[in-house]
Amino acid sequence: MNQSISDCAAWRALEAAGQRLRPQHLTDLFAADATRFQRFSRQLGDLLFDFSKQRIDAAALGALLELAKARNVSDGIAQLAGGEMLNFTEGRAAQHMALRATTPVFVAGADVLPEVLGTRARMREIATAFRKGELRGARGKVIRHVVNIGIGGSDLGPRVAARALSAVEPGATRVSFVANIDPFELDVVLATASADETLFIVASKTFTTQETLTNAQAARAWLQAQLGAATDLAPHFVAVSNNIEAARAFGIPAERCIALPEWVGGRYSMWSAIGLSVACAIGWDGFEQLLGGAREADNHLTSAPLENNLPVLMALLGIWNTNFLGCGSHAVLSYSQRLADLPSYLQQLEMESNGKRVDRDGNPLTCATSPILWGGAGTVGQHAYHQLLYQGTLTVPIDFIVPVGDDAPAQRMLIENALAQSAALMQGRNEAQARAQLAASGKPESEIARLTPHLLSPGNQPSSTLLFPRLTPHALGRLIALYEHKTFVQGWIWGINSFDQYGVELGKLMARALGGGSDSAPPDGSTAGLLAAIRTMRD
Ligand code: F6P
Repeated sequence: MNQSISDCAAWRALEAAGQRLRPQHLTDLFAADATRFQRFSRQLGDLLFDFSKQRIDAAALGALLELAKARNVSDGIAQLAGGEMLNFTEGRAAQHMALRATTPVFVAGADVLPEVLGTRARMREIATAFRKGELRGARGKVIRHVVNIGIGGSDLGPRVAARALSAVEPGATRVSFVANIDPFELDVVLATASADETLFIVASKTFTTQETLTNAQAARAWLQAQLGAATDLAPHFVAVSNNIEAARAFGIPAERCIALPEWVGGRYSMWSAIGLSVACAIGWDGFEQLLGGAREADNHLTSAPLENNLPVLMALLGIWNTNFLGCGSHAVLSYSQRLADLPSYLQQLEMESNGKRVDRDGNPLTCATSPILWGGAGTVGQHAYHQLLYQGTLTVPIDFIVPVGDDAPAQRMLIENALAQSAALMQGRNEAQARAQLAASGKPESEIARLTPHLLSPGNQPSSTLLFPRLTPHALGRLIALYEHKTFVQGWIWGINSFDQYGVELGKLMARALGGGSDSAPPDGSTAGLLAAIRTMRD
């Protein structure tokens, strides 16, 4: 990373473009260009990416693409696809694309496709047997309930996909997720579970994660209590890990452990055996389609020119909003209740990947990096936080995720709401409109004058809309892989290693220092005071 990002000519051109565009209103940009939608939207298969409501013009987009070239994005993509050791701080490649491959893929010179296909075969076997009622527990009962115990990347992706794609009707089988070390989550799941019929997938790349091991131990204790201490519990566990030795030490026999390759990062791992719970929830064909959707995004990333490359454009628009319009947060609003968990997954993906402050050479970065990602499901958010988007003081770029679905009345209303929100947040309400609205409701002039300021809404909130026909496994795989690639491209442009997460270790070390009967002094006065208060409250 010889050159600091802010030193390149494209960056300076973008600063000038930012100054020019910051005072402009999106409605004026639309008024000035009748072809704006056509110019600022792209297609990938049946997915439409409309970014015409972003606060850019052709010159700004051109400068963003120049930035991508100046930062050698094409080279970065080639390195990612080529299995280069991009996670160089941890000495690993970042080859999540290999997990959805159907042709040879090389990592450090070795073809990993046979390993990937071998894992898929094992997943298929387990998921199919589960769904057919052919898996049996220790006492011969059919396993009908899979509980995935994992956290972070070993939980969030599978949780989103299973929730998004599972059948609505209660079926013969059920898949649950437990992540939090707070026993409440496991207790809720176990309250309606039958030990004879339950299989726990312990999903942990490292098999050292405190939350996961604690929950796995609690699950084992529950099984023992229900089935008898002498019962061989092996039929009730599968481990997915890169640390098979630790899984075996926990008591899961080797033949019930599925290896997770070293070269896949936790938050990029839902396509690996970490996705076993998804395959159990939606069936093997569905899981293959999920992989196929991701593969469509992979092929697009590696072949589409930068100006038509969706993840590249998504990354550049994020950089524009963060670095040149000064936006510190980014909302993802899914107009699908099935995607309500998507922001949680994207939070880890983007914030754990790009929440960094030094470049790949270890030099302090001279620009802001990952914004705070948040969001939820529309229309629910409209009755909660959208007020801030309309009348608060922050500019918040939004991604509207909109599966069109069928023409049933409620679905039609959902889609109308999605479009209404993006249009209204762009247009806002000016004084004349506020006055007209108050007059139409019969208010006298004195009331109109008093209330008008309270009705004003500046609009100009930038947004993109990702519109696709249906929330199928293919569509979800493509969507998630697009965000994966966006995250990589954004990190690459900022000059970040998007694949390590040393920051989170600090909290883990502190928790270890505070816990386990450690006699070391509390780290600060506040913590000492809180510990004393906790002791009093417990007493
Ligand atoms: O603490 C962060 C983290 O390491 C994430 O990166 C990871 O996805 C999560 O914990 C869970 O890790 P593991 O799969 O090793 O249990």
